[in-house]
Parts: sequence; structure tokens; C-alpha cells
Amino acid sequence: VRNMIIDADTGIDDALAILYALKSPGIRVEGVTTVFGNIGVEQATDNTLRIIKLAGAPYEVPVAIGAEKPLKRGMPEFATHVHGRNGIGDADIPASDQRPLEERADDFILRKSKELAGELIIVTLGRLTNVAQAVLKDPGLCERIKQVYVMGGAVGVPGNVTPVSEANIWGDPEAADVVFSSGLPVTMVGLDVTMKTLLTGSHLDRLDRLRHDGNGAIVDFIRESHRYYFEFYRSSNAFIDSAPIHDPLTVLVAEDPSLVTTRLMKVSVVCDSELCAGMTAADLRRHPLAGSNIRVCTDVDEGLAVDRLLSPFVS
Ligand code: BDR
Ligand code: CA
Repeated sequence: VRNMIIDADTGIDDALAILYALKSPGIRVEGVTTVFGNIGVEQATDNTLRIIKLAGAPYEVPVAIGAEKPLKRGMPEFATHVHGRNGIGDADIPASDQRPLEERADDFILRKSKELAGELIIVTLGRLTNVAQAVLKDPGLCERIKQVYVMGGAVGVPGNVTPVSEANIWGDPEAADVVFSSGLPVTMVGLDVTMKTLLTGSHLDRLDRLRHDGNGAIVDFIRESHRYYFEFYRSSNAFIDSAPIHDPLTVLVAEDPSLVTTRLMKVSVVCDSELCAGMTAADLRRHPLAGSNIRVCTDVDEGLAVDRLLSPFVS
């Protein structure tokens, strides 16, 4: 079993990623830490608590509130045009009685890294602010973490918020820079692989056909939230009746790295540029010099990944 902290700005694909992690027998979710991004951190926290309740997790999953803004920049704008006003495609799912911890996200990460030294995996599905704050407080974190799987960045493909930048890195480039250059063992699950891993309308129909008493509310939620997500991708002329599963793929890879091909690269995060802020610049020269060692996902078995993502909801 893989012990994970999931750090999320709980939007539509984060929610599906968390649902999968809570349902997969191969994963133990040690906690979820929340961060601003798709929506504000309060909304991300509320969504996370609702998703944990919806999943009906068989064990307690603590939730710790994290950053409300980037390390060094002002208050952000949110991506409600992508994820809906409430961040989960305006789907209405029941509120939870569970309260978030008093402990802040960075302190929670540090405490868990000591309790589970050498075993803990961090999966980031949003801005890297919380992990950056944790490693700045205690650089010893690097030795205690097994691996950080980062949904973010793009090396051989365009960005999604700017010509060269992916949203999670662009939303706090200074934090990404801290994490990438900290010595933490980072695997980058970027747009190179997430943009070709698509959930489609026929996958949703398959979920619907295989619904049973125990999974009805979850299937309804996945369908409703993804209707919103598909519409965003259709209206931006990117995909028809489908959407990339950025965040779920990252959890899938953290659970089973054999789903992807990776290559160790030297990568720098661009901070001081109007046009290129948030770019993950890989030094692909024969003798690379610039950047930190990052394991970059370059290819994925997308069919297997999507089948695996659906598996806990249909059996
Ligand atoms: C990332 O940005 C957010 O909109 C998604 O939740 C995902 O984490 C993709 O660029
Ligand atoms: Ca996300």
C-alpha cells in the first residue's frame, strides 16, 4: 500500500483524483491538504470534505488547510470558468460534519513526514505553495519523503494558461522553483502525458451502465461535474465530449509508476518573465547544465490508465 498526502485545489479533476485514491485498495490517503488555485482555499477545503463524505472512506482522512495565495505574489484570480463557481462543476453534493484540522497544511506535511519517514508520497494537484512552505521551514523534509508526484508543467508540448505555462506552475512559480530546486525527489506528471489521457462521454456512459446501489451518488457526481468540464473544453475548441484527467493521472502514476515512461531531465522553473513565468524549461542539450534533476513523464499507457481510474467505481 502506498501512503500518500494529496495536496489539492479541489476542482473537478482533483475531486475525481481524491475519489479514486480513497477507493483504491493500493492507496492509503494519510491526509488531504488544501491550497488556492481553481478556487479559493476555503472552497477547496469545503469541496474536499464533501468528497471524502461522498466516497464513504472506510478510515478517517484528516484535512489540513493550506495557502490562500502564492508565496510572493498578490491575491490570485480563480479558474471558475473551467471548474464552475463552486469548483466542482456546480454539482450539489451534501456537506460534511467533519472539521478541518487546526494544524496548517505545511505543519501537517512535516509531522507526517516524520511519522512515515521514507514511506510518505506527496501528490500535488495544485500550486506548490504548501510543499514549498514545508521545505522552507524544514529542509530535512527532502530526506524523509519517498517521492513527490507533481501534476504540473509541460516540456515538449504547449502550456494551457499561457503559450508555455501549465496552470499549477504558473499560479505560483516561486513555490514551484523552491520545490524543484530543493532536492526533493520530484516526478513531473505534466501536460506531456495528461493532455493525451482523456475521459470521454462513452466512459461516463460505461460508468452509468455499471452503476449499482453502492456507487450511485458517486457516479452521478462524476457525470454531473464532468458535463461542466467537457463543456469548458468544447467551448475552448480543445476536445469534443471529453477532457484530460490531469489530476487523476497523477494519483494513478503515484500508485503505479509503470503506467508512464520517464526521463531524468534538468528542469528550471521560469519566474522573472511576463511571457514565460511558470514555464518548466528542460535543458535537453547533449550536456545539460541548467536546472535541477526532475523525473519527467514523457509517455503514458493512456488506455490502461483510464480503465484503472474507472475500476473502483464499476466493481
Ligand atoms: C491543472 O490545473 C487545474 O485546473 C487542474 O485541476 C489541474 O490540476 C491542469 O493544468
Ligand atoms: Ca488541480
